[in-house]
Amino acid sequence: MSQYHIPVMADTCLQLLNLRAGGLYVDATLGGGGHALAMYQKQPEIRLFAFDQDAQAIDEAGKVLADYDPVLINANFRQLRTALAYNKVKGIDGILFDLGVSSHQLDCTERGF
Ligand SMILES: C[S@@+](CC[C@H](N)C(=O)[O-])C[C@H]1O[C@@H](n2cnc3c(N)ncnc32)[C@H](O)[C@@H]1O
Repeated sequence: MSQYHIPVMADTCLQLLNLRAGGLYVDATLGGGGHALAMYQKQPEIRLFAFDQDAQAIDEAGKVLADYDPVLINANFRQLRTALAYNKVKGIDGILFDLGVSSHQLDCTERGF
């Protein structure tokens, strides 16, 4: 598990997302990819679109999720609807918002948080 950010309430999130094979899910705040990885480990047969406005988070999560095939989108989740439409997504089965900042963003002083 990456130390970039420790996902919180992962079990509860998984329970509420109720992942099903073939389902399409969105992680609106990907961060270090901890929740996304937990989603894939619970149900590898999902399609995942994941957003983060922080390019460093997208890079980190890309490594964590290297065994899977998420669509990683470096954008504010305000653009979620447009980005999903661009990818021809007509509906989703669940969405996760883990709002705030990641531990890494706080720990890395040169980032100015
Ligand atoms: C608490 S962290 C997410 C941690 C992640 N769930 C994990 O398991 O590693 C919140 C993330 O949301 C991102 N974020 C905050 N506001 C955002 C926004 N409006 N659009 C996209 N990403 C945002 C931050 O850059 C940060 O990486």
